[in-house]
Amino acid sequence: MKAPPTSSVPNGARILALCDELARHSSQPNGLTRIFLSREQAAVSQVVLGWMRDVGMSARIDAIGNVVGRYEGTQPGLPALVLGSHLDTVRDAGKYDGPLGVVAAIECVRAFHARGRRFDFAIEIYGFADEEGVRFGATLLGSRAVAGTFRPANLDTRDRSGITMRQAMDDAGLDPDQWPAAIRRRDEVLAYVELHIEQGPVLEAHGLPLGVVTAINGQSRYQIEIAGMAGHAGTVPMGSLRRDALAGAAECVLAVERICGAVPDLVGTVGTIEALPGAVNVIPGRARFTIDVRSPHDDVRRRAVGELLAAFASICEQRHLSLSNRVMLESRVAQCAPWLMAQFEAAVAAEGVAVRQLPSGAGHDGLAMIDLTDIGMLFVRCRGGISHHPAESVTEADAAVGTRALLRFIENFRPAAAGAAA
Ligand code: GLV
Ligand code: MN
Ligand code: MN
Repeated sequence: MKAPPTSSVPNGARILALCDELARHSSQPNGLTRIFLSREQAAVSQVVLGWMRDVGMSARIDAIGNVVGRYEGTQPGLPALVLGSHLDTVRDAGKYDGPLGVVAAIECVRAFHARGRRFDFAIEIYGFADEEGVRFGATLLGSRAVAGTFRPANLDTRDRSGITMRQAMDDAGLDPDQWPAAIRRRDEVLAYVELHIEQGPVLEAHGLPLGVVTAINGQSRYQIEIAGMAGHAGTVPMGSLRRDALAGAAECVLAVERICGAVPDLVGTVGTIEALPGAVNVIPGRARFTIDVRSPHDDVRRRAVGELLAAFASICEQRHLSLSNRVMLESRVAQCAPWLMAQFEAAVAAEGVAVRQLPSGAGHDGLAMIDLTDIGMLFVRCRGGISHHPAESVTEADAAVGTRALLRFIENFRPAAAGAAA
C-alpha cells in the first residue's frame, strides 16, 4: 500500500487510509468481520499499539484485551482525558464503525507530538476490544471492564463453537481471573469522549458534516417465544383448527411497527425470527423472535415495551397460542454531560460548521463508561446513514473536519470544575 501522507494537521485521506489498513485484518475473506479475542483482533491491536508508540504514547494491552495508549501531560501521572472507540466489528461490517474514532484520536495526538505540545492533563486513547457483543451475546465487554461493571458470569458464556470466554481469553494470552486489573479509578479520569460515524441519516439530511450528541438512547432487548400446535400443512383446514405460531408472530411483528411508529423518536425492530420445526409442509408449532426497542427517554421506552408485551398477549390469546419472554438487555439512556457538549459545540462552531445536537440511536462504549466518568460524543456524517453494512462510507473532507474539531476540543479542554467556574 502507498504510504499515506503525514502531516501535523489531521489529513482526511490519511485517516481513511489508516481505517483501510485496519480493515485488512478480518476473518472474512471478502469483507470485514473482526470479533472479540480473535486472531484478527490480536493483529489489529499490534498495529494500533505501533501507531500509538509512533506518536509519542506509551501503549499496552490491558487485562481484557483493550489497547490503551497514554500521552503524558506537562508532568507524569496527571488525570487523563480519555478518547477512543472500539476495534471489534459486527459480521460483514463497514470500515468506520469504531476504527474511525480510534484513528482520529491517534491523529490528534500525532499533531500534538509533532508540535511538542503537552497539556495540564494526560490524554489516553482506548481501542476497546468488544463493543458489538457479536461473539458472546453480551455487549460492551471491553468498556464494562474499564468501568468496573463487567459481570464475571460472562466468562462462562459460550460462542457459536462452544468456546467459553474464559477459554478464549486464555487462548489470547490473557488471564480471565485478572480482568479487574482493567478497572480504572474515577480520580484517574477527567471524561470520556468519542468521535464516531452517525450511523443514521440525520446529518446528511441537514447538509452537516458534524453533530454533537445529546444522549445515547436506552435499549430494551427481549427474546419472545410463541407456542401453538404443529400440524400437517395439507390436512388441517385454515381457520380456528390451526394454532400457527408463526402467523401469531407475524401479527406481533406488525404490532411492533404500529406501536413504535406512533411515538416520535421511538424505534422498535424485530431483527431475528425463527419458525420451528421449520419445514415447508409443517404448520409452525413454535416461533421465536427478538425485539429491540430504543428511545431517548427511559419512560417512553419502558411504556412501549409494556404495550408491546400486552399486545403480544392479546394476539396470542385470540389465536389460542401461549407466550413467554426473556429479557436480553436493559440499558438506560446515557446522557452526555452538558459541559462536554458545550465544549464540543464550541469546537464545531470554530470549524465553521452550524451546531446541531442529536441523540444517538446506536449503542456506544459511553453506555458503559458513564459508570466511570462523564461522557461526550461527536458524530461525523456517513453516506446514506448506512452502517453495520460494507457500504458504510465517510468522505475525506468529513473525516478531516471531524478530527480537526476533536483536536480543537482537546486543545481547549477544561475539566468539569474549571468549566463550571468559567
Ligand atoms: C451497536 O452498534 C448497537 O447499537 O446495537
Ligand atoms: Mn460503534
Ligand atoms: Mn456497531
